[in-house]
Parts: sequence; structure tokens; C-alpha cells
Amino acid sequence: MIGVFDSGSGGLSVLKEIIKLLPREEYVYFADTAYCPYGGKSPEAIRQRSMEITDFLLSKGADIIVVACNTATAAAISALRERYPVKFIGMEPAVKPAALSSETGVIGVLATEGTLKGSKYMTTKGLYEDNVKITERVGEGFVELVERGILDGPEAEATVRKSLQPLLDAGSDRIVLGCTHYPFLAGVIQRIAGPGVKVIDPAPHVARHLYEVMESEGLLRKSSRRRKPVIELVASGDDASAKRILKMVLDELK
Ligand code: DGL
Repeated sequence: MIGVFDSGSGGLSVLKEIIKLLPREEYVYFADTAYCPYGGKSPEAIRQRSMEITDFLLSKGADIIVVACNTATAAAISALRERYPVKFIGMEPAVKPAALSSETGVIGVLATEGTLKGSKYMTTKGLYEDNVKITERVGEGFVELVERGILDGPEAEATVRKSLQPLLDAGSDRIVLGCTHYPFLAGVIQRIAGPGVKVIDPAPHVARHLYEVMESEGLLRKSSRRRKPVIELVASGDDASAKRILKMVLDELK
């Protein structure tokens, strides 16, 4: 069983890519909606939540856990790996593919405050900073939009534009989505950015990595008559939005 968690519905953008590769597995998805958003919370508070959620996912029978949240990965993944015997798959902002493919030499990163301040991001940024200019912004209000189920329309457009425009004005031709909620706004982001800008979501890469780790750990289901994934959705608070987004994701996969 694969455990997946996020502060809310964001990790469902990762779950979608995972199901494309592993369509017959069993999943428990935990949306920490009672504590959402994680973005501005202290690393200690996020680590504490991540451990409580991990305990829950393990009690459900998870064999491997996907931290489908950039902010929780930044704050907690080392501590989780130290404390628990299972494998953890985390998120990483796709700075590398953006930096290597940029033609203007300027890339933009959208992420939460917690991710942008984290040492993991700082280290990655340091590796590419000599070759490209890296501009970054917190996607102010993006998580709240997604949690309210507002994925397009005038309000989404106005909110997205505020954080995205400075990155475009700086000349970015690659926009890295460094928060798992943001891919649900990718349509709006792409429309505002225009055709010359590539929007990069690391989720397909993370799903591939999970697949490889499960293969090497012998965790892949050998055979299954099942045609569809089995997904249990659990939320610490309101689950209405996560349910709606999960349904949308599964409909898109049909
Ligand atoms: N979806 C999460 C991330 O990838 C957290 C967003 C939030 O709760 O602020 O960073």
C-alpha cells in the first residue's frame, strides 16, 4: 500500500502522475486540511504533523510514503527518514530541468515560503545560480484558491497574475511549480505566461522515482485482477474539496 500526504488537495496532482504509472495499487491519501496551509508554518510544526501523519499511514498498512508536499519535504523528510524504517519519496522543485533548458537564461520558481527558505532549495539553487538567473515568488493565495476549488476564472487569474508577473517581467522562460497545489492552476499560469514559456511540474519525475524505488524494494504488485486503483481519502478537517478534486483527477485519467 502506498501512503501519500499533503497539507490538503495539492498532493492529488502527484497522485495523478503516480496512478498513471501504477494504476492497480492501493493508496491511502491523507489531506491535512485542519492544518492547511503549511506554507508559512514553522519547520518544527510541519515536522510534528508529518510524523503524526506518518504514524497514521503506517497504521493503515503503508509500505512506502510519498511526501506529496514540497513544504513538508523541505521541513521533515530527513527527520522522517531517520525515524522510520520505510522509504520516503519527497518533492523537489524542478530547478535542474528548467535551468538546463532555459533559452533566456532566466527561470522563475513559484513555491511556498517554507520551501523557498529551506536548505534543500538553497542547495539546489546554489548549483545552478552561476549559469542562470533564478527569480522566485511565493504563490500568494494559490493554495487557498485550490482548497476552495477555484481552479480558473477571473479570481484565479487575478491572484495568479500578482505573483507570476514579476517572474515574467524578469525574463523567465521557464516557470517551476514548486508546490504541489500549483499544477491545479497550471492552465491559468500557462495562459498568463504565454506560449513562449514552459511551465514545469516535477510530479511525473517523482512518480517515476517512486516506481523505481518500489521495483528495487520488491514492492510492486506482481499481479492483480483489479483494473482501477483503490484509494482511501482521509482528511484531518474538511474533506469536501479534496473529494471533489480527487474525482476530477480520476475522471481525467479515464
Ligand atoms: N502543497 C504543499 C506544497 O507542495 C503545501 C502548500 C501549503 O499548504 O502551503 O508545498
